[in-house]
Amino acid sequence: MKKIGTTLTLFGALMMLVACSKKADFDYHYYSPEEFATLSQYLNLPDLPDEYIVNFPAHLRSAGLFPRPVERDKAVLGRVLFYDTKLSKDGTIACASCHKQELGFGDDVAFSKGVYDRSTARNSIALSSVSNFSAYYGTDLNGSQAIRFFWDNRAETAAEQSQGSLTNEREMDMHMDEVVAAVQSQPYYSPLFKKAFGDDYVTADRVKESISNFVNAMGSYQSKFDDEAGKISGYNFPSTYTNFSGFNSQQNRGLQLYQSNCASCHSPIMGRPMLFNASNGLNAVTDPNDLGVGAITGNSQDEGTFKVPTLRNIALTAPYMHDGRFKTLEEVIEFYNSGIQDHPNLHEFLRVNGTPQRLNLSNDDKQALIAFLNTLTDDHARTDPKFSNPFK
Ligand code: HEC
Ligand code: HEC
Repeated sequence: MKKIGTTLTLFGALMMLVACSKKADFDYHYYSPEEFATLSQYLNLPDLPDEYIVNFPAHLRSAGLFPRPVERDKAVLGRVLFYDTKLSKDGTIACASCHKQELGFGDDVAFSKGVYDRSTARNSIALSSVSNFSAYYGTDLNGSQAIRFFWDNRAETAAEQSQGSLTNEREMDMHMDEVVAAVQSQPYYSPLFKKAFGDDYVTADRVKESISNFVNAMGSYQSKFDDEAGKISGYNFPSTYTNFSGFNSQQNRGLQLYQSNCASCHSPIMGRPMLFNASNGLNAVTDPNDLGVGAITGNSQDEGTFKVPTLRNIALTAPYMHDGRFKTLEEVIEFYNSGIQDHPNLHEFLRVNGTPQRLNLSNDDKQALIAFLNTLTDDHARTDPKFSNPFK
């Protein structure tokens, strides 16, 4: 018996050796050994690059949402740029400082800290959504139908937006030529630029394009809500999304309350928001320090209005609203239930006979809405290593 055992073990070891050397024969190096050695000194990147394919489920596609094409090598480079603190004036802040993966790429404080301990003027926006970045409608990539960026809708594209963050004095406080110089001076960027662009010539546009590719890949479309919506075959008019077989009765009650009170702005299928901006009645009078979209357009009807944000991953992204005024979802629900203020631009969806709505929700209803909002968390986006910090 013992003999056979040994023979088998030997045979096994031999087979493994054969298998290994076979593998070595065909081993494919994406980066040259020198490139990979340089990269490995600073970064934990796999020797075969991660794929960044965004693959929408049917309920999003059939509503006309298309994933944006993401170029893999630009996204790989964009990931490194996103986590690199050398792209900031004092060398301490990266995009990821205020957009944390485990928080749906948002932050857990009302105002984040930028360079030199400066505070941002508004609450960080969670990037792990679907409508803001990953998706577009029809062929209209950045046209009038595209969702604009920032609470005041001031940036039109993700590239324009990244420049805004890099140069914002409260965030990273750089000039784009300083960004280019910072990138040029780090040895790990040369191999990544060669893969992404064919040569390692660093320009501001290439930096922005790469960051956009990474951010565009952050689509969040694998929540429990998506699993359930995906079970409904074909395209159903969204208002039929009111009863999911995999939801318990509390979650379904929350889904129904959501569809009748919230979906007209925040989207019945968690696709793009139905309006670009609105006042949801946080204040009766416009905050003179923050006119919102009105400061950008100069229209009085836009004063006190802000971007309608995604509710995807909302359980991860407290505190809430553009100024982070609500600490919990309970406070948000109580606000919509009984606290809406009569701002002149308060959206009509939140008025009943001209006055701010009072939903009069029972305690059970409030808990049901929260249970529903919890089904919007996408654990893939939150934990996928290819979106994590690559630095050693
Ligand atoms: C110091 C914190 C901080 C840093 C650093 C930072 N951001 Fe932000 N980010 C914010 C805040 C705050 C907002 C909302 C600002 C506003 O709307 O006026 C925001 C908004 C955004 C938005 C808009 C999202 C939307 O749905 O409209 C994107 C995209 C974004 N940031 C990406 C980035 C990228 C990429 C970087 C790095 C180049 C970066 N951010 C660096 C705090 C930060
Ligand atoms: C008239 C359109 C409208 C309706 C209806 C509406 N909202 Fe909102 N919602 C907004 C706007 C606009 C904001 C951002 C306001 C701001 O920060 O100034 C917002 C913000 C939020 C936020 C905070 C998001 C974040 O990232 O900070 C939550 C949560 C939310 N809404 C949930 C709901 C729920 C739940 C309902 C239904 C009970 C609802 N909303 C109904 C327009 C609407």
